[in-house]
Amino acid sequence: MTVAVFDPKSLQSNPTKNSQNTTNSLAQSTYPNAKKVFIETQGCQMNVYDSEKMADVLGDSHGMILTDNIDEADVLIMNTCSIREKAQEKVFSQLGRWRKLKEKNPDLVIGVGGCVASQEGDNIQARAPYVDMVFGPQTLHRLPELYEKSQSQSDIKPKNRIGVVDVSFPSIEKFDFLPEPKVEGFKAFVSIMEGCSKYCSFCVVPYTRGEEISRPLDDVLAEIDSLAEKGVREINLLGQNVNGYRGEKSDGTICRFSELLHYVSHIDGIDRIRFTTSHPLEFTDDIIDAYAKIPKLVNHLHLPVQSGSNRILAAMKRNHTIDIYINQINKLREVRPDILLSSDFIIGFPNETDEDFNDTLQLAKDLDFDHSYSFIYSKRPGTPASELPDNVDLATKKERLATFQQVILDSTFAKTRAMIGTTIPVLVEEKSNRINGLHGTAENTRSVIFEGSDELLGKFVNVKITEFVGPHMVKGEFVDIIG
Ligand code: SAH
Ligand code: F3S
Repeated sequence: MTVAVFDPKSLQSNPTKNSQNTTNSLAQSTYPNAKKVFIETQGCQMNVYDSEKMADVLGDSHGMILTDNIDEADVLIMNTCSIREKAQEKVFSQLGRWRKLKEKNPDLVIGVGGCVASQEGDNIQARAPYVDMVFGPQTLHRLPELYEKSQSQSDIKPKNRIGVVDVSFPSIEKFDFLPEPKVEGFKAFVSIMEGCSKYCSFCVVPYTRGEEISRPLDDVLAEIDSLAEKGVREINLLGQNVNGYRGEKSDGTICRFSELLHYVSHIDGIDRIRFTTSHPLEFTDDIIDAYAKIPKLVNHLHLPVQSGSNRILAAMKRNHTIDIYINQINKLREVRPDILLSSDFIIGFPNETDEDFNDTLQLAKDLDFDHSYSFIYSKRPGTPASELPDNVDLATKKERLATFQQVILDSTFAKTRAMIGTTIPVLVEEKSNRINGLHGTAENTRSVIFEGSDELLGKFVNVKITEFVGPHMVKGEFVDIIG
């Protein structure tokens, strides 16, 4: 099946902006009368990864086939996000639509997973009694059991069935129960740690995904080995704070993130390494040293900073100052002068003044970010920041966000235009649907299209960039094969 890569294009074709349907199809099921499962994925890359695993476990246990046609599905799963209020509200409005499908087809099984499920638990069924299964990010591997339990009530009238709920945090057990990753394509995500223990004052993740816990080193390396054997060339190490990785080694000692990067860089076949996401507090000198020593590590870093104001950073409990952040970036640029930076920002945090906002704007200009994920602050129940007055008015928040995003967008355009005339390595991923040629990705995440034959698929090639297509896409001419 397709090991999915976060693809902004796929977002555009989806009904809601931040959601995507997992369209990877399982290989032909060997089960007669195999059921079809439709999975809607909302939110972050971690959820995209988890949705694939849901499809894998249901495929493995029950031969279920993934479908992207909701009307033919026997099982509907919503993998939810609760990072901002809007995302959370979407869950119940979407469930309302699914209820109508269930009214037409009472045997339809509805499951709710992800962070809203984790946070709401039994409340999901209190509000939406037609939901059959509720499970959290750490219990998705138990989906086959939950499905069995929901089916064991099939002699009971659908409206009298009791939904099954499991939103516990059974440590890292999840990974021991997941089937071998199925691969189609040349890029793959590998989860190296789960959860977050940073407890930023605004964020629900530590409550919905649990505390940070790292997968043992050998498990991570074995998974990457296996992906490399199946033709994967680029690995994206995934976790809420990958640089907080503390994986146990077979001798009982602990492997830090920088050391993991070195191990991964020695795996034959893997020629590009990315990671998502990391925290400034643990962006330590040994990681900068890894950038100096590991050319496979891409020239692109996503390091969330959230705000350019020390006052706001303290209120957010980020536990570092702006100077510390700038200092690390400067050190990184000493070893990688051309590295492009992206970051996450929250605009309109409680008590954010014009001065605080101007500090954020100034930081964006000074550090010359290439890209950002920037959002208006959203008050989340149960977080310490929710006790603060949400006192920046919405119009001001919107105006600040628009000003901020324009600065970043100008930078994105400028950096894409600056690529013209350069020759860069590109991982060739698929046939292009825009031109009669190929499509690949540059280290800086830009899509690159160019004319070339199918034999180049899965190879790294040099492409001379000739044309600006859009802020995230360029066109070029094939130069030669790197390998
Ligand atoms: N681990 C990452 C963050 C993961 S959450 C880190 O080191 O910061 C992804 C992003 O969602 C955050 O970086 C933040 O910008 C945004 N976010 C989280 N909670 C939010 C809230 N309450 N309101 C608005 N944005 C929020
Ligand atoms: Fe959230 Fe902060 Fe962790 S933003 S995911 S609590 S690093």
